[in-house]
Amino acid sequence: MNDPDERGFAAALSEKLRTQILGAPLHFFPTIDSTNTYAARLAREGASEGTTVIADSQSGGKGRLGRSWVSPPGVNLYLSVILRPPVSTAIAPQLNLLAAIAVADAIVEVAQLSPTIKWPNDVLIADKKVCGILAEMQTDSGLLRAVILGIGVNINAPLSAFPEELHDKASSLLIAGGQTVDRSAFTASLLTHLEKSYVLWLQEGFSPLRSRWERYAAHLLGERISVAAPEGVVVGRVLGLDTDGALLVQGDNGTVQRLLAGDVTVIGGYNRE
Ligand code: BTN
Repeated sequence: MNDPDERGFAAALSEKLRTQILGAPLHFFPTIDSTNTYAARLAREGASEGTTVIADSQSGGKGRLGRSWVSPPGVNLYLSVILRPPVSTAIAPQLNLLAAIAVADAIVEVAQLSPTIKWPNDVLIADKKVCGILAEMQTDSGLLRAVILGIGVNINAPLSAFPEELHDKASSLLIAGGQTVDRSAFTASLLTHLEKSYVLWLQEGFSPLRSRWERYAAHLLGERISVAAPEGVVVGRVLGLDTDGALLVQGDNGTVQRLLAGDVTVIGGYNRE
């Protein structure tokens, strides 16, 4: 159940990490309420960009939409990174898409599995969720001060680690691939991919990342979906991503809507969440 690496997760990760920005400094906790909550406190106290909080387990892991995130010890990754991009609050949600791409890249590289992305940022394998992302913004007079990018990846959790009601929705890299995955190698790969994408995004915006996101979400293109969006429920066919990361959905009356946030259900499709 635990890492094959006897030195422990944190020491092994520090040794493998070759990033310039992310993971420095690295705060590691055997257990914490939520890495996002702790990172938010550090950010308010002025912690620098790249500051990363990792815990072996969380007692109050936070999911999107007020849900909780199942966070047992010894098996998964619970990570929060502080970013301070010089962008507006309208642009910052694109970091959700970036993070999903980086997680998918790390899954391909380290576990040789075939992940897909469900807009905006759930990462699935064989239609079951293995990763959730929770980006929380800190603002001051409308200006973006920091983004706490929280990433939870089910790496070596057995199905028994999840409550019964999640058994047909949740998975882990172990469940999907049948092999234990080295958490430190996975985390080093994730932070490396995330840093590369982040630097590219700061320099060139979302456009160069759009095709990469669409490749992981190819199964979604053309599907009929229902989106519980802040502006109400939108039903229509997925056209793709706009250059800024908004989801383009063609409604039944032909009008195209740009969605910036929401929960997607594929109608009669691969995930009935
Ligand atoms: C989701 O609901 O899909 C988002 C889940 C995000 C979970 C991660 S685990 C690390 C970080 N700390 C938290 O409390 N939540 C995020």
